[in-house]
Amino acid sequence: MFDVCVCYADLLNRFDPRAFRWALTMKLAVEEINQSTQLLPNYTLGYKIFDSCAYPLTGQRAAVAVLNGISEEESPTCSDASLLLAVIGESGSAQSIVVSRILQPFRIPMISYFSSCACFTDRRSYPTFFRVIPNDDYQVRVKAIAQLLVRFNWTWVGVVRGDHEYGRFALQGLLRELKGTKVCVAYQEMIPLLYNRQKALEIMQVMKSSLAKVVVVFSAEGEMTPFLRDYMIQNITGIQWVASEAWVTASVFTGSEYYPFLGGTIGFGIRRGHISRLSDYLMTVSPENYPNNPLVKELWEALYGCSPHAPSASQLPLCTGQEILLVQHSAYMNTSSPRVAYNVYKAVYAVAHSLHNLLLCKPGMGPFENNSCAQSNNVLPWQLQHYIEEVKFNIAGEEVNFDLKGDSVPYYDIINWQKGTSGNIEFVNVGLFDGTKAAGEELVIYEDKLTWLTKKVPVSVCSASCPPGSRKAVRRGEPICCFDCIPCDSGKISNETIECIFCPEDFWSNEDRTICIPKKVEFLAYDSLGIALTVISVVGACLTIGVFLVFFHHRNTAVVRVNNSELSFFILFALTFCFLCSLVFIGEPTRWSCMLRHTAFSITFSLCISCILAKTLVVLAAFTATRPGDNIMKWLGPKHQRVIIFSCTMVQVIICAAWLIDASPYPSRNTKYERSKIILECSVGSSLAFWCVLGYIGLQACLCFVLAFLARKLPGNFNEAKFITFSILIFCAVWLAFIPAYISSPGIYADAVESFAILASSFGLLFCLFAPKCYIILLKPEKNTKQHLMGKEK
Ligand code: TRP
Repeated sequence: MFDVCVCYADLLNRFDPRAFRWALTMKLAVEEINQSTQLLPNYTLGYKIFDSCAYPLTGQRAAVAVLNGISEEESPTCSDASLLLAVIGESGSAQSIVVSRILQPFRIPMISYFSSCACFTDRRSYPTFFRVIPNDDYQVRVKAIAQLLVRFNWTWVGVVRGDHEYGRFALQGLLRELKGTKVCVAYQEMIPLLYNRQKALEIMQVMKSSLAKVVVVFSAEGEMTPFLRDYMIQNITGIQWVASEAWVTASVFTGSEYYPFLGGTIGFGIRRGHISRLSDYLMTVSPENYPNNPLVKELWEALYGCSPHAPSASQLPLCTGQEILLVQHSAYMNTSSPRVAYNVYKAVYAVAHSLHNLLLCKPGMGPFENNSCAQSNNVLPWQLQHYIEEVKFNIAGEEVNFDLKGDSVPYYDIINWQKGTSGNIEFVNVGLFDGTKAAGEELVIYEDKLTWLTKKVPVSVCSASCPPGSRKAVRRGEPICCFDCIPCDSGKISNETIECIFCPEDFWSNEDRTICIPKKVEFLAYDSLGIALTVISVVGACLTIGVFLVFFHHRNTAVVRVNNSELSFFILFALTFCFLCSLVFIGEPTRWSCMLRHTAFSITFSLCISCILAKTLVVLAAFTATRPGDNIMKWLGPKHQRVIIFSCTMVQVIICAAWLIDASPYPSRNTKYERSKIILECSVGSSLAFWCVLGYIGLQACLCFVLAFLARKLPGNFNEAKFITFSILIFCAVWLAFIPAYISSPGIYADAVESFAILASSFGLLFCLFAPKCYIILLKPEKNTKQHLMGKEK
């Protein structure tokens, strides 16, 4: 059964020379078999060819006609033996479904040469259906088309299909297959069964306005011809067609006028074969040889535009009789690589081989009940079906057989429509899809052989891929292929990936968020801040030493002597260290510098304040000892003072020792303050110890302050207690300010704050305690007398 005339479609395209060729191929195959001495010798195959006009209803009428015969007596189904053993056909799936349903009750097997619909795999609905074309599942579902779209990065595609089972199932399969991929379907349109220009123009409008420049078409030339004609009238360009097997080798479209619109089309053609005698056989067709065949008349009308017989319904001129078939008549004569025709050929041979096997059956060893064989003079269709299921034969080197579902092995050629020498379209083989290969290796495309209308691979995307440094952000309510690009967050990068990824530890994103660069390592270095601190501390230390030298030089003067020179020297000594302590905070923290930082500073400060404490005690004692000979002074002799200083400092030393032993400070990399940087700092190890150390200094300072405060009102021009009160006040102020500043300072600034606090308090002590004395020593030497100092001077 062939759809030679396309009755329902555009009237201009009534006759399909391609389908007529297929019908002739069947005739050729039967004739070959009948002549063969190997295949079915002594038997002659008979056949009847019906035209379904590519329309299910006509197919149904044909099927019913076969079963019924011309009259009731002739009806093969009414007599015992059916003359009809098998049906070759139908072409389109929609027609095959109808025919198969009609043949099913009679268990007549059918072998289709072109019905690829995946729907036929349902063996219960179509038990007698076989085919020599791969199931569409291979074409669309088991990746071929889907893989092709992914391969060329066509992520936004349109689908146009015909109104039939083939189109419906293929679209369904494609959508299912595309689900897991990055390809999205922009629109799905259907060309109506009865061609309707209005609807077609609407579809073209969609095609024109969509960004999807790649259009996948599941349809056959029947509906494509009028559609493409209107498409060309609309002068739409820039569409890249992906053709399904049904029309990718349809020679109706090879004319040069089609090239600007269809050039570059790519699609899957079914396997081609070789039928050696086909070309010659087709040549024998002419109105003289077949004067009564209406289809030959139609062929002549279609190819030459003339009517071979005198009374013609069409108003065409009479043919001259000189018309000869040429290779140029490719719609009919295209025999170089028969694909569908080869399928027809295979199908006929499959029936012949099955019948041959059936006849070879040895009595008593048959496959049927009680090992019986089929009767050779009364073969029943279901018996033949059994043999078709098992048939296996070779044709031109290719093995033909059917699997349990009646399917054959998937194999496709990838066809590209290229410009031929005369401007017409040529079908060029640019690759293959071999379903027997391992997953991922099935699709082979020779990209250098491919040509596109636009010279380069067409682009069909909804949104261009995001540049490095940004990521996709899906638009609400739109398919995933349409997205916006938003820059990666700080600390993340992307390079041609969909997602932004975190940089590894110790790395951070660059400005453009394209690469991860090592994080900046920061510590209180010898930059401006570090240098300032260093200078201040060195100046402080030098000043202290200067004061020391002044005092030492004037050690015999009243000011120095009154002020207990030994304690002053101790204080100056401690202060020098206090100044130098801040240097340990500068530079990259190491194990040693970390250990030294807090301990050195706390011990020197402790020492310093202990001295001041001792001094305060001495002052207080000296003035409160009202009665002469009071032995309070005895208890505060230089020895005792040293003991006080030593023991007070010792407490701090012990705290520090415990700290270092138990949980000593260590250098650490801090990434919490600023995630883009690594801050090298000293971790205190034990914050309890840290606050103990500070607390102890605070305690000493407070004690000192209280004592000095008590002594501040004591008489004398040079009241040491006043200065001590003052200096400790400054000291306390500095450290009270330090605590919140220290806690809230980020990273390296905490070190700087501590360093500044040390320097500030050291300066405070230095100035308050020693500036007035230096002033008197250096500038007012006349006041440097005991009388003046005791305030006894008149
Ligand atoms: N593979 C198609 C099918 O199974 C081929 C086909 C032949 C076709 N004739 C057709 C498709 C007519 C649509 C219309 O149906």
